[in-house]
Amino acid sequence: MYYADMPQLRTSVACPFGESLQKYWEKRYEYFSKFDEGIQIDAEGFYSVIPEQVGLHQAELIQGATVLDGFAGVGGSAIAFARAGKRVTAVDINGERLKMAEHNATIYGVQNAITFLHGNFFKIAPTVKTDTVNLDPQWGGPTYKELGRFLLEHFSPDGNQLLEFSLQHFNEVALRVPTIFDMSELDRFKTPYTAHDDISNGRIISRTVVLRKTLILTPHISRDAG
Ligand SMILES: C[S@@+](CC[C@H](N)C(=O)[O-])C[C@H]1O[C@@H](n2cnc3c(N)ncnc32)[C@H](O)[C@@H]1O
Repeated sequence: MYYADMPQLRTSVACPFGESLQKYWEKRYEYFSKFDEGIQIDAEGFYSVIPEQVGLHQAELIQGATVLDGFAGVGGSAIAFARAGKRVTAVDINGERLKMAEHNATIYGVQNAITFLHGNFFKIAPTVKTDTVNLDPQWGGPTYKELGRFLLEHFSPDGNQLLEFSLQHFNEVALRVPTIFDMSELDRFKTPYTAHDDISNGRIISRTVVLRKTLILTPHISRDAG
């Protein structure tokens, strides 16, 4: 079931995915300002999509002109990067969700700036030539806060493996972490990093860590935002 199949529910005040996701439903325009133009999303997409303004801010933090979005979901990050003028490769292991991302990209007019590849990040990443990789792996669902202190091993796939692999293949690595993430976890990678608050509607909802082996000097050609 996904939202675009239920146009009669577009004006609904009750979340079509059930009461447990009501608070995400109320933020639907924070996620996609064009939500009512036919955005496709499933229940997991709802609690994991990056809000539109956060994605656009992330695009400013990333220096690379080409980005591999390794965990694309319904397309929040990939669409924002493309709107900022980057060339994007969007990967997701869930084919249905990736199709929703492609559809959503057409709503923002940036589908031609994104190549969509269905499959496992670890298999596809070594075949993609890109400046930057964006990592937004799952945090274990809405109950992750109960952990109190979030470690790399709590990401799915394991963040230790993800960072080690990504730093072997790419120069710049962006990782979205929960606010309860323990930054000292990053020390073992011996790579300079910066950490940035992800602010949506006045609240810090997560942080984006950018690890960079060397400065990227690729010329950046800006396009009109979609
Ligand atoms: C937190 S969501 C990403 C949200 C996305 N940044 C957005 O703004 O919509 C994580 C996504 O990673 C995908 N995923 C999980 N394991 C994967 C893997 N090994 N390779 C590629 N995608 C994977 C899931 O299907 C899910 O859609």
